[in-house]
Amino acid sequence: MDFERPTVIERLETPYGELQLQKRGPHFEVISNGTFLMASYNGESERHLVRAAFKKAHHPAHVLIGGLGVGYSLEEALIHEDVASVTVVEREEAIIRWNAEHFLSLTNNAVRHPKTRIVHDDISQWMRSTEATYDVICLDTDNGPDWLIHDDNRYIYAEAGLKRWRELLTPDGCVAFWSANASRDFEKLLASFFQEVKVVQVPDPTKRGEPDVVYLGSRRGRPLHFGRSNEKNFPREA
Ligand SMILES: C[S@@+](CC[C@H](N)C(=O)[O-])C[C@H]1O[C@@H](n2cnc3c(N)ncnc32)[C@H](O)[C@@H]1O
Repeated sequence: MDFERPTVIERLETPYGELQLQKRGPHFEVISNGTFLMASYNGESERHLVRAAFKKAHHPAHVLIGGLGVGYSLEEALIHEDVASVTVVEREEAIIRWNAEHFLSLTNNAVRHPKTRIVHDDISQWMRSTEATYDVICLDTDNGPDWLIHDDNRYIYAEAGLKRWRELLTPDGCVAFWSANASRDFEKLLASFFQEVKVVQVPDPTKRGEPDVVYLGSRRGRPLHFGRSNEKNFPREA
């Protein structure tokens, strides 16, 4: 990684605060309200989110991704031959534009792929009214349930949100949440809405800091009762 000072490419005010695209050497970085949101040099974790969900879903034909970012999760989803469509919901117009203006070569033109559909909307609103269902839902809108960059994203990880994600999943589908840290409370909450919950640590070759975590929920079988956790439904990865 090149630690030279970043060059600001664009800074703008959006309905969600200040958003900045900067370049550091060959790499792009996006800063949201002064907090680091993502960079082009660390896409492995974003790809792992998708790979982990695809392992659990039986027929990953229709995929929903919350948060476009640099587009690495989208590119990963498009690799799988079973995939017929990938819908990406992104609320920042600038992020969608930067994908077309700056990130195409990083993601093999993922936003222009014929199977890609970009929806410019806030997923915490959009999810309440959409009528489609998905085999895989991957959510990477924030740093995780315990570390929100935007407080209005709380719904995505809260009880009402989890209930809605379950409704939007096909019976053999899988919903996946990316998180920068482990959250035992979120794991328990997830288990009260999904028959099977799995927690996957993202391998970090640098072994620096706390590993990223992917939370997976599958609604196979009878849904659990709401509002209470059930330890029996916590098969964890060894
Ligand atoms: C960490 S980035 C996603 C990175 C992405 N997985 C990738 O592969 O590059 C988070 C993205 O989610 C978007 N976002 C945050 N909250 C959102 C919301 N409520 N609805 C839609 N997009 C949202 C941000 O604008 C940002 O583009």
